[in-house]
Amino acid sequence: MKALEATRLSKTYRKAKQPALSDLDLAVESGQVFTLLGRNGAGKTTVLRIASTQLLPSSGRAEVLGLDAVKQAKELRERIAIAPQEAETVYPLTPRDHILLSLRMRGNEKRDAVERTQQALEDLELLDVADVNSDWLSGGLKQRVIVAMVVRTDADLVFLDEPTIGLDPLSRRRIWEQLTRLKGSGKTIVLTTHYMDEAEALSDSLVIMDKGRLMASGTPQTVKAMVTDRAIRVDVFDRFSQSELAKYGHVVPIAGRYRVLADAEGARGLGDEAVARRAKIAIGPVSLDDVFVDIVGVREGDEGGG
Ligand SMILES: Nc1ncnc2c1ncn2[C@@H]1O[C@H](COP(=O)(O)OP(=O)(O)O)[C@@H](O)[C@H]1O
Ligand SMILES: [Mg+2]
Repeated sequence: MKALEATRLSKTYRKAKQPALSDLDLAVESGQVFTLLGRNGAGKTTVLRIASTQLLPSSGRAEVLGLDAVKQAKELRERIAIAPQEAETVYPLTPRDHILLSLRMRGNEKRDAVERTQQALEDLELLDVADVNSDWLSGGLKQRVIVAMVVRTDADLVFLDEPTIGLDPLSRRRIWEQLTRLKGSGKTIVLTTHYMDEAEALSDSLVIMDKGRLMASGTPQTVKAMVTDRAIRVDVFDRFSQSELAKYGHVVPIAGRYRVLADAEGARGLGDEAVARRAKIAIGPVSLDDVFVDIVGVREGDEGGG
């Protein structure tokens, strides 16, 4: 059984000019970490809100754990947990209160909930701040509290909407470890991110979304393989025009440089020519980041990453 299956899922918000989702098809296997990868506005949160019964689709269908997210919303809610994007901690509750309350509201018995709360505090290394007013916590710690609220529930499927946004690298790792642990305990995890490295490190499968549409789907490897015949990227900073580069590979203009996705022969040819011209270049393996740039293109004002 699929843990999540979306069929031609569409959503147009009231008064919106364009649909937030258009005919989206998704299939998530049980026990997987599944990632929705996309920029701001791609429609990731909309998918999660529909699948977690918080928002009605305009058309199409979302089936989660075999239950219809619209018609069987009440049953479904008991079997899922969600760490929403931009969730806020509540003054004057402590981190411990937050986790305990969320478990109690899910129906965990008091003693069990107290135990699980302690575990969750340990999981996210929140013991030092467990009993302080949450308002005093830094943004990163608050974010960890939000994640801690879902890591020790009984839910079969856990949704996390950009769980590591704005976190320092160590805090991100800590959350990654918890997601890996959750998966190890047999749960399905559906996660959104706009960090390619995160999608690459965690996902069994992923989709790239843009403007409410599916741009690519597969394992991190297969999505990467969409450019495997161009497995090397060469960033060219000067002395070449875009049209001159086209013969070496696929050219993507990025702020201040051209990124050429090339095969070995193309990379060698370009390297030789760059040496002859004394051009500034940088060569590296293609990452999911490059695939993303290649697939969704680069818009004005984008950094381009790398
Ligand atoms: N409540 C809303 N009303 C109108 N438009 C919305 C609302 N929520 C999101 N949108 C629009 O829907 C699109 C998808 O948004 P969202 O699902 O939040 O994307 P993401 O999570 O990938 O950033 C965006 O264009 C956004 O502006
Ligand atoms: Mg979002």
